[in-house]
Amino acid sequence: MSKIKKIGILTSGGDAPGMNAAIRAVTRAALYNDLQVIGVYHGYDGLIKGHFKELKSHNVSAIIQKGGTILKTARSEEFRTIEGRQKAYNQLKKQNIGAVVVIGGDGTFTGARFFNEEHNIPFIGIPGTIDNDLFGTDYTIGFDTALNTIVEAIDKIRDTASSHNRLFFVEVMGRDVGFIALRSGIASGAEAILIPEVENQVPNLKSHLEDGFKRKKSSNIIIVAEGEETGGAFEIANKVKDDFKEYDVRVTVLGHIQRGGSPSAFDRVTASVLGVAAVEAILDDQKSVMIGMVNNEIVHIPFNRAIKYNKDVNRNLLTIANLLSI
Ligand code: F6P
Repeated sequence: MSKIKKIGILTSGGDAPGMNAAIRAVTRAALYNDLQVIGVYHGYDGLIKGHFKELKSHNVSAIIQKGGTILKTARSEEFRTIEGRQKAYNQLKKQNIGAVVVIGGDGTFTGARFFNEEHNIPFIGIPGTIDNDLFGTDYTIGFDTALNTIVEAIDKIRDTASSHNRLFFVEVMGRDVGFIALRSGIASGAEAILIPEVENQVPNLKSHLEDGFKRKKSSNIIIVAEGEETGGAFEIANKVKDDFKEYDVRVTVLGHIQRGGSPSAFDRVTASVLGVAAVEAILDDQKSVMIGMVNNEIVHIPFNRAIKYNKDVNRNLLTIANLLSI
């Protein structure tokens, strides 16, 4: 039986819809198991500075439906240093906090991993990022909501694109990966999807657009992941537009709208399940692991694996996207 009586919880890195649902689940599961819960505000920066406040059950009431994070978030430079992590350890010791649940993406888990190599207070991770780019889990909290937000936006763009016979380039998030672009592209019936995982896509795009033009396709929507090798939607549009003078070209960058909004039912359930599992992992004296979900089963993935291995995009989805966009 674990000796831990008090745990901390924080959110770090880019916010994601469903983080609040995870905070609620961790808090309530911990209280159910007689653990005291301390909310750490502003991510690792708040850990270093001791921005702590106890969370009772009522503090997490009516947050399951809210986007963003009630604990706030930050990308901390100081926690990247050994001195910063030592200060964080001192704060945790002072408060007698025996374990910390961190909700975030690869930057968050990199920090947690370093901390656990240096200090003996266990960190447990919950994957929360719209990017879905963590190895060892099928889904990260926020991905599904972001997809729905994007698809709703593209449906609207489709109305105006077909009314004006325009060629639209829509840029979505995904600095290093194309998960968001691929799924939102399929779900919105995009004519082409450009992602960082595929090289030299412009020649193929041009011939694809030419084929469509010959078949009298009057409008097109091309989804571009922000990390795509040419440099994003504006760059691609510039490379292509002179060859397609018959189309009026427009570019839309969806930006941070993709990170906000009320979480989908799927993200709320995932966050609830992972939150409870994170507390169970603490009670089982686990450390330095991310709680993931694979084929609907809970898995524990060591931080170093979740960060180190690249999750590849589903190549089958890429084939399906190409096949359906003729
Ligand atoms: O990590 C999530 C993410 O939304 C990326 O897809 C995007 O590149 C980045 O965050 C944007 O971060 P910021 O809000 O710091 O500009």
